[in-house]
Amino acid sequence: MQTVNRIDPLRDAVSALRRDGKVALVPTMGALHEGHLTLVREARKRAAHVVASIFVNPRQFGAGEDLDAYPRQLAADSALLAAEGASLLWAPDAAAMYPAGYATNISVSGVSEGLCGAARPGHFDGVATVVCKLFNQVGPDLALFGEKDWQQLAVIRRMARDLDLFRPTVDDIIGVETVREADGLAMSSRNAYLTAEQRAAAPALPRAMRAAIAAIAAGAPVAEALVTLEQALLSGGFASVDYAMLCDADSLAPLAERGAGSARLLVAARIGRARLIDNMAA
Ligand code: PAF
Repeated sequence: MQTVNRIDPLRDAVSALRRDGKVALVPTMGALHEGHLTLVREARKRAAHVVASIFVNPRQFGAGEDLDAYPRQLAADSALLAAEGASLLWAPDAAAMYPAGYATNISVSGVSEGLCGAARPGHFDGVATVVCKLFNQVGPDLALFGEKDWQQLAVIRRMARDLDLFRPTVDDIIGVETVREADGLAMSSRNAYLTAEQRAAAPALPRAMRAAIAAIAAGAPVAEALVTLEQALLSGGFASVDYAMLCDADSLAPLAERGAGSARLLVAARIGRARLIDNMAA
């Protein structure tokens, strides 16, 4: 696996890979876990070559968030990607991504605004901006993202649709099912912030979500099921719940009732230093 950290060698390397067929991009911020490696494996099934990117994007961290503490382990990540058969690692530094004078921001209204967007103002502008840049830098035939960040995926798809992105097109943005630990906790680089006690308590999140989904399917009012979910988290070791909402799966508009369309339960809750998010089909 080749590693590049400047645009010109990146473009040369991607052009060479393209001679063998499709190129897939797996964008990451590093601190790779099984969820990321699943994206690489899935990408390998769909393309001749996989380009992974590692860039801890300062523009998607708000003031007081964990930019400085975010785990950085480039050598270990690089070994994991090579072992999975990635062909190229794109690892720019902040100066390569946002050179002096950089002035452009991409803001996706609507789908960015509620849920994590409400608690983390500017976060999805940062995500949309860097993902658009990564797409333009690499020009992949397809790109893969974890469904764990459901709202992020919706924002990226909205951006791709609205800007008529060409490489990849909106249809070539692939969501891959969340990878979970044996106890149900969704894999996340931020799980590393949990103490042993908090880690033991954290599976209360997927457990309470599954219970809420079952209650709603059995006819319980949505509001009541969500209150029960919040109470289960607070009594199960979580410090606070940022949101617990049933939403339309595509527009992310909140649903007061489980209608006929596809719905998603989305939750963000804090435990210790970590803010955990999860979502499930409901
Ligand atoms: O999901 C992530 O790791 C990041 O938000 C992404 C998509 C790599 C953009 O920085």
